[in-house]
Amino acid sequence: MESREIATKFVKFFEKNNHKIIESSSLLPADKTVLLTTAGMQQFAPYFKGEKNPEKDFKSRTLTSVQKCFRTSDLESVGDETHLTFFEMLGNFSIGDYFKKDAINYALKFLIEDLKLDKNRISITVFGGNNLIPKDFEAIELWKKQGIAEEKIFEFGEKENFWGPPGPTGPCGPCSELHYDLTKKPCNKGKKCGPNCECGRFLEIWNLVFMEYNFTDKQKYENLPLKNIDTGMGLERISMIVQNKKTLFETDIFQKIINNIQKIGYKRTEEAKRMERIIADHLRGSVFLISDAVRPSNIEQGYILRRVLRKSIIYLNLLGAEPNKILDLTELIINEYKTEYKDLQKNKKEILTIIKEEKNKFQKSLDKGFVEIKKIIEDTKKQKKKQLPTKEIFQLYDTYGFPFEITKEIANKEKLEVNEEEFYDMFKSHQEVSRAGVEKKFGGVGDFGEQVARQHTATHLLHQALREVLGKDVRQAGSDLTPERIRFDFNFNRALTEEERKKIEDIVNKKIKESIPVKCETKKFKDAQKEGFLAFFRDKYGEEVSTYSIGDFSKEVCAGPHVQNTKEIGKFRILKEKSSASGIRRIKAVLE
Ligand code: SER
Repeated sequence: MESREIATKFVKFFEKNNHKIIESSSLLPADKTVLLTTAGMQQFAPYFKGEKNPEKDFKSRTLTSVQKCFRTSDLESVGDETHLTFFEMLGNFSIGDYFKKDAINYALKFLIEDLKLDKNRISITVFGGNNLIPKDFEAIELWKKQGIAEEKIFEFGEKENFWGPPGPTGPCGPCSELHYDLTKKPCNKGKKCGPNCECGRFLEIWNLVFMEYNFTDKQKYENLPLKNIDTGMGLERISMIVQNKKTLFETDIFQKIINNIQKIGYKRTEEAKRMERIIADHLRGSVFLISDAVRPSNIEQGYILRRVLRKSIIYLNLLGAEPNKILDLTELIINEYKTEYKDLQKNKKEILTIIKEEKNKFQKSLDKGFVEIKKIIEDTKKQKKKQLPTKEIFQLYDTYGFPFEITKEIANKEKLEVNEEEFYDMFKSHQEVSRAGVEKKFGGVGDFGEQVARQHTATHLLHQALREVLGKDVRQAGSDLTPERIRFDFNFNRALTEEERKKIEDIVNKKIKESIPVKCETKKFKDAQKEGFLAFFRDKYGEEVSTYSIGDFSKEVCAGPHVQNTKEIGKFRILKEKSSASGIRRIKAVLE
């Protein structure tokens, strides 16, 4: 069964069961607190919260869709058998109509009757409870009633079995997942080998969210007016199972793309296969992002696009592709999806142009870097050394922006070593040196450090003041500090009035006068999000982040440095407010 047939079967199954088929929304969500669409439920969030009426807009409380999604959370895992950034999510939704019982029945019925999966290979996870929300006994009973053996039902905590909200606030709830046994063979953990086991025996295929709560900006779980259902199943993963393949990349979805990459002609080592997968995933994602109006840049969605696009360019280089290969592949991807997603055909020229421009830009520095690294390798070999000189490869990175990743790959191919630790040490001390250079220029390390801290805390106050005066959709789009001035960019589509400017300035100065202590805490990024810390560059964060709160007024994920108390900031004055790019305003301000 081809993947399109599976997707059609899915929506038809739910249509037969009184669901209305709804089109996928854009990868750029209407909810501006979220960078990209990561789940089918996002376009329905206002209905789940009771803010909009589904009967009025859809003439139905039960809906189904095939949604384009893009997740950066799995970015580093792409290259293995089962992870992707871009994927299509099959979902069924109930807005105050059916709840757990029907959601569970539908899921099993579809998998077993329509897709003919073996029920014995399905295991279930349920929410085991925490100090706020009880264990989901009801779901356990319902699965048992559907003939799932008790030993195939596993309890997990919040991390695995409590879903959402996708942004800082919104609908969420306990969930229950269906996992498929790929190998039927436990790993050395024996009986303890089950869903979510690291060995990869089980693949998570379908998530049923029992959406009962709204996580509010006051950091509370409130009951939603209605009990809802939100489910999601990755089309690529279910296709892999139905088509009995070992990886997502062997399904019909990726076959043509992978075959086309292979035409480059290289030895298909495990490493080469990993690169093929990354190219296939990242380029497919790039095509869809560009079609939904994302453009390469250094912030937010544009940064994500640039990162995945450049990574595909790097790997195409490493596999030895000729320069226009990427455009060939882009056309192929568009052709594969143009019937399903008409916009791709409409935007084809634009997509190809953007990819070509980004490639040309990036390729120039890559080419220079390739020439240099060749020299370094020759020298190293001449000197009969086994390891590339760290200082030189660091310079390569520093001068040409040549990715360290490529240096490692090339070294590997040449059977030479690199000293990663030394490279990262150099990277760190280099950052310190360049900062010290700036500090020297501006007279004294201490002075400069303190000035940056003052300015930095002031930008957090400014950010929050903007949100209070102009609305919560306002978010930081960038900032740049020099000892003389603060520059702060934010999304907003008109000039501020004199009155607004004054109000913003006054709020910042009032908060400075209030002498509020600034608190720094290290938190898990997920917790920080749940607690409402603003984090708009989420893709750049690791699992643990530092957070700064200024009383109840401002909460942001940030690397600092900051002052200890707002009274250290002095007086804040806005000098100028003007347009910086389309939809982006720029404020210049000083501390006096
Ligand atoms: N929102 C849930 C998820 O993304 C179900 O669709 O897993």
